Amino acid sequence: MIRTILLGPPGAGKGTQAAKMVEQYHIPHISTGDIFRENIKNGTELGKRAKEYMDRGELVPDDLVIEIATDRLTKDDCKDGFILDGFPRTVHQAEELDKFLAGRGEKLSVVINLEVGDEELMKRLTGRRVCKKCGASYHIVNMPPKKEGICDVCGGELIQRADDNEETARNRIRVYDEQTKPLIDYYEKAGIIANINGEKGLENTFSEIRKALEA
Ligand code: AP5
Ligand code: MG
Repeated sequence: MIRTILLGPPGAGKGTQAAKMVEQYHIPHISTGDIFRENIKNGTELGKRAKEYMDRGELVPDDLVIEIATDRLTKDDCKDGFILDGFPRTVHQAEELDKFLAGRGEKLSVVINLEVGDEELMKRLTGRRVCKKCGASYHIVNMPPKKEGICDVCGGELIQRADDNEETARNRIRVYDEQTKPLIDYYEKAGIIANINGEKGLENTFSEIRKALEA
C-alpha cells in the first residue's frame, strides 16, 4: 500500500512526478495547490481566501489547509493509497496529518524528498507554462509543447501561473526554506524519508522514486 508525500521546494517536480506515479500505481494525486487553484478559478469563498496568500507566495493558514486535505483523504478513492503533493508544508500540518491517519489505523509508507538547487528551481518556475483548460504542465525549454502556446493534450491555451513571476517565485523558495524544510528532519526522525536527486532527468528521478516506493 502506497501512502506517500512528495516533499520538495517549489519547482522540484512534485506535480510532474506525481502524474507519472498516478499512471504507474493508479492511486489519487492530491495537490493542495491544485485544489486552491481550482477554487480560485470557480470563484469560491475558499478560493478568495487562499488567493491573497498564494499571490504573495506565502502559505495559506494551517487550519484552512488541514481541513481541506484531511477532508479529501476521507474520500473513497484514497482507501487503496494516495500521493500527497504540497501537503503537509509545516510541522503543525505534519503532526495533524499523523494524528488523522493514526485515528484511521493508517500510516505513511514513505516520504519522497525531491532535492533541487535554487538556481535550477528559478529556471523551472519562470519557464513553466500550464494549460488553462486541463492543467497539463510544460516548460518552455525542458518540456516544450509540440506547438508553442498550445496544450498537446487538449488544445487549450498555455498560460503562466500567477505565482511563477520572478519575485513571487523567489519568495516561495524563501518560505519553503523557513517553514517547510524542517519537515525533512521531522520525517528523518520518523525513519521514513527517501532523499532523491531531482536534477538527474525526469526518467532517472522517476526510477529512483519507484525504487523507494517499492522497497
Ligand atoms: P503548489 O501548487 O503546491 O506549488 P509549489 O509547492 O510551489 O510547487 P510547484 O507546483 O510550483 O512545483 P512542483 O514541484 O509541482 O513542480 P512541477 O512538477 O510543476 O502551491 C502553491 C501555493 O498554494 C503555495 O505557495 C501556498 O500559497 C499554497 N499552498 C499549497 N499547499 C499548501 C499547504 N500545505 N499549506 C499552506 N499553503 C499551501 O515542475 C516545475 C517545472 O519544472 C515545470 O515546468 C516542469 O515541466 C519542469 N520540470 C519538472 N521536472 C523536471 C526535470 N526533472 N527536469 C527539468 N524540468 C523539470
Ligand atoms: Mg505542483
